[in-house]
Amino acid sequence: MSSARDSSALLAATARPPDRDDSPAQSVVDLSGVRFSWTGAAPLVIDIKAMRVGRGERVFLRGPSGSGKSTLLSLLAGVVTPREGSLRVLGREIAVLGSAERDRFRADHIGFIFQMFNLIPYLSVVENVTLPCGFSQRRKAHAMRAGGSVEGEAVRLLEHLDMGAAEVLRRPVTELSVGQQQRVAAARALIGAPELVIADEPTSSLDADRRTAFIDLLFGECAREHATLIFVSHDATLAPLFDRSIEFPGINRGSVPEGDTRLSAGERK
Ligand SMILES: Nc1ncnc2c1ncn2[C@@H]1O[C@H](COP(=O)(O)OP(=O)(O)O)[C@@H](O)[C@H]1O
Ligand SMILES: [Mg+2]
Repeated sequence: MSSARDSSALLAATARPPDRDDSPAQSVVDLSGVRFSWTGAAPLVIDIKAMRVGRGERVFLRGPSGSGKSTLLSLLAGVVTPREGSLRVLGREIAVLGSAERDRFRADHIGFIFQMFNLIPYLSVVENVTLPCGFSQRRKAHAMRAGGSVEGEAVRLLEHLDMGAAEVLRRPVTELSVGQQQRVAAARALIGAPELVIADEPTSSLDADRRTAFIDLLFGECAREHATLIFVSHDATLAPLFDRSIEFPGINRGSVPEGDTRLSAGERK
């Protein structure tokens, strides 16, 4: 990417930085009357009256397959925009941003762990982790401050996630175990301290012990960086680990098959 584009985007980003108050009274996510369908005529996939996530919260978002969880995450990340309603992330109304601004916002402020990890097979472990710093001057600057260099910060994060051994760092990502790939994906989401970390079913391919261990690691890293975590899964047994659970069919009135009995209370502790 061009450095001219980078620096103008950086200026735009620094002109109106989202404030970084760590109090949970500050909303990181604030939805009101949000409706979304993938195509104009199709039924609503998302119809959420209200949903709020405070700063520093670790929220578990549970719902069955097809209930629109990943769609909501795409809305939060500004990949798509709502048809109606207000969707504020870090105080910013996402729908009023143009698509390039949304790309910039996502790169600067959101770390995403994908279900299939989406590691780049031809890049090394460290290059995979430093990737977001190539798209965000803000995260690059933060990583350099924290680790001396972006590569130094990548190695530091990988060490925290028990992936620092030279032999592991040298291995092609395609030869890593699923658990190791997942930790590389976590380090990539965390580098440069994005305020919001989103994980879309990242533990679905792990056994129960490794699932809990991974969530503990993620909590530790998010706490250190004062990041807010939204963690999606269909596995209800993980819910007690989190500060709060949101039952997705309870808050989302879209995408629910006829005759389904939904929870009337949207959120439960
Ligand atoms: N990119 C997309 N284009 C069109 N339809 C989609 C897309 N992603 C998801 N959907 C549809 O939206 C609905 C909700 O899917 P999704 O958000 O993936 O649910 P979940 O993550 O809870 O399994 C499904 O009917 C799915 O087919
Ligand atoms: Mg999904």
